[in-house]
Amino acid sequence: MIIQKANGRVLKNEEARGAEFKMVAKTMHGLEEILADELRDCGAKNIELLSRAVEFSGDMRVLYRANYTCRTALAILKPFAEFEANNEQELYDNVYRIKWEKMLDVDGTFMIDSTTSGDIFTHSYYAALKTKDAIVDRFRRMFNQRPNIDTENADFKLNLHIADNRVTLLLNSSGESLHKRGYRQAVGLAPINEVLAAGMIKLAGWKCDCNFYDPMCGSGTLLIEAAMMANNIPAQYYRQENFAFKRWRDFNIGEWKYVKESEDRKIGSLDFDYEIWGNDIDMDVLRQAEMNLRHAKLHKDIILYHGSFEDQEPPEGRTLIVTNPPYGERIKVDDLNELYTKLGDTFKRLYGERCEVWLISSDFNAIKHIGLHPSKKIQLFNGSLDCRLLKYELYSGSKKSKTD
Ligand SMILES: C[S@@+](CC[C@H](N)C(=O)[O-])C[C@H]1O[C@@H](n2cnc3c(N)ncnc32)[C@H](O)[C@@H]1O
Repeated sequence: MIIQKANGRVLKNEEARGAEFKMVAKTMHGLEEILADELRDCGAKNIELLSRAVEFSGDMRVLYRANYTCRTALAILKPFAEFEANNEQELYDNVYRIKWEKMLDVDGTFMIDSTTSGDIFTHSYYAALKTKDAIVDRFRRMFNQRPNIDTENADFKLNLHIADNRVTLLLNSSGESLHKRGYRQAVGLAPINEVLAAGMIKLAGWKCDCNFYDPMCGSGTLLIEAAMMANNIPAQYYRQENFAFKRWRDFNIGEWKYVKESEDRKIGSLDFDYEIWGNDIDMDVLRQAEMNLRHAKLHKDIILYHGSFEDQEPPEGRTLIVTNPPYGERIKVDDLNELYTKLGDTFKRLYGERCEVWLISSDFNAIKHIGLHPSKKIQLFNGSLDCRLLKYELYSGSKKSKTD
């Protein structure tokens, strides 16, 4: 297929794609393997799992596709400089030597995210400051002018990663975090992060081959992520093409269009013929869910119910239930224990064998009140909260869990 002309010469796809390079996709604890699978589907090679990240290689097409389609990636980073620094001056000197003017306009903006470990650079903020000084000083010396810092919407987002004396500089190709999908018009009190929601559904092993139900859906994040999977809607379809790589000097618009159009053509291709239902006790939060669904044009794909979960049966037939009940500071402990007791009762009384339940919570005491043994426990973090994603396989004959 022909996609673009360069200097009057027609380039074939393969020619236009160019060299392969190393990349790092950032994710959340516990989602590394899920993300590795997604990257494999994008054509990534040499995949290696790291902590809260996956390293891989590929060309620009892989970079664009990973940004557009990976549901469990927070950012796709492209390493571009690696060196040793044993003190602040060495960090400054090495950063100063990089030809920043080839990447960044003097009247452009940039920002630096930094993480440091080891005994040499103990404050990530100071390492970032030193790096910023070196970049700015180079521009000043060359042009008598400097690019400005913009922490909100910089043209150029850098990641500085220092482990002991190993310094890596990476370009963030995504810009704003990829959990910002662009479908959220309204947020509930405690919306779950979109990347975490998608990861939970994938960890539950949903193949879009049964119904999906969230009995405490809040503003609808799990429902929307499920509906996007069921309709094969790319993760960043609603993001309005807001990616940092589009501001890079080597941005290849033909290649980007090829990726976007080929992924968009797959929308609706799964022929999903099951129900997606949500339920919540709070009418205000359901209105927010409705607003989000309408914005994503998914309101016809999802049915919302108002009431307590004990009064709402799941859809008929095989159903995957994934939910994020209340936990944390806003609710009194007694109430929370009672709520979890009712949850366990509802699993046994209303759900039964045709349903599989996956639930995330950070309240390990309240979890005990469910009164069923989970058949799987996976550690995840909701923000800073140490959580478990628990799987309950229900056994309708005895109204008990199989593992009870
Ligand atoms: C942590 S929030 C869920 C957030 C949701 N995942 C989102 O992304 O917006 C928990 C939800 O449980 C709902 N809830 C609490 N008790 C309930 C009950 N008895 N029946 C149904 N929903 C309930 C709350 O109204 C709240 O929206």
